[in-house]
Amino acid sequence: MDLFKAAVAVRKKAYAPYSNFQVGAAIRSASGKIYVGCNVENVAYPEGTCAEAGAIAAMIADGETEISEILVVAGGAAKVSPCGGCRQKISEFASADTPVYLADLDGDIEKITIGNLLPAGFDKEHLEAK
Ligand code: THU
Repeated sequence: MDLFKAAVAVRKKAYAPYSNFQVGAAIRSASGKIYVGCNVENVAYPEGTCAEAGAIAAMIADGETEISEILVVAGGAAKVSPCGGCRQKISEFASADTPVYLADLDGDIEKITIGNLLPAGFDKEHLEAK
């Protein structure tokens, strides 16, 4: 799978000296292009950014706004799953049935949807006036 290869490659560039947990993410946008991101940590720990956030920023900077599918890979024993904040970030540019692939380095890949990862999430409808 090309998303897996792209995410594994960018993961190697992750800057994670504090957690030693490198993460790679790859998005296929509506046009079919692939955008990648890795986590970038900071000595001021909360300032670090997740791999998903980097991939989303690259997609937006290129003028695209729709995630067709996204894959996340890390090197832990269990397949990595996006943090709560990243679930919210992904859902901004996806629909409930958009696939999210959770991968480990062996190429074991689990498919879930963003709707299942973030049920009853905060969305644009909540901003509407009564
Ligand atoms: N991290 C990601 O980049 N994406 C995830 O889906 C889970 C967590 C990063 C944040 C931090 O740099 C490191 O993994 C450990 O939490």
